Amino acid sequence: MDVDFILHAEHGVNASSFAARVSASTNSTLHAAVSGAVGALKGPAHGGAAEEVMKMSMEIGNPENAEEYARNKLDNRERIMGFGHRVYKAEDPRARHLRERSQALGEKRGDPRWFQILTHLSEDVMAPYRERGIYVNVDFYAGSIYHLLGIESDLFIPIFALGRVPGWSAQCIEQYENNILLRPRLHYIGEMDREYVPLEQR
Ligand code: CMC
Repeated sequence: MDVDFILHAEHGVNASSFAARVSASTNSTLHAAVSGAVGALKGPAHGGAAEEVMKMSMEIGNPENAEEYARNKLDNRERIMGFGHRVYKAEDPRARHLRERSQALGEKRGDPRWFQILTHLSEDVMAPYRERGIYVNVDFYAGSIYHLLGIESDLFIPIFALGRVPGWSAQCIEQYENNILLRPRLHYIGEMDREYVPLEQR
């Protein structure tokens, strides 16, 4: 857990840290900013991925089922959870540390199945995706570690949040110290000059 918390503590302007900073930039309280960050973290594209990876491992059940499982998902243009990252187009350096722990814990607990499923997925099944810059991320092995530590899967996001609170807080303090209201603008590329259609005629 110490290694896990250290790895999760801070990680640049990830989605939840950005959410925290946006809230802090309105001079909202630290508690409110951290609440906003928790909301952003919860999504499966961000901190919710570890829970989804564990669900996926349970659905796969055995390493020999991994290929068919992944093939079905990819053929339906679905994503394999725990792979890909907005910034890293090589292996997420945090994943290496968790991979070692996942393997060691699996052996210690006499339950190496989750590690075997995950390594088969990453080393064999998803190997062709490396060419496209899709490698394992921090959430890929985290779920198996929590599971082997006896933590229920609906607590995976709260565990991630616990680890990330120092990072969110540091980002908020930095924001308060030299504040500017964060207010991005979006560039509209949709249809222009649309007619207004009254509600009853739609
Ligand atoms: N499985 C299959 N294909 C993928 C995956 C994946 N996990 N991730 C990206 N791709 C494909 C995607 O389909 C797209 O293909 P195409 O160009 O043919 O449409 C291409 O790669 C680029 O995808 P993108 O969404 O534009 O790329 P991104 O860098 O913005 O995606 C991501 C980042 C994390 C949203 C995405 O990789 C993803 O949804 N991964 C699964 C969820 C996950 O593991 N999230 C944890 C992220 S890291 C830890 C954290 O922040 O909590």
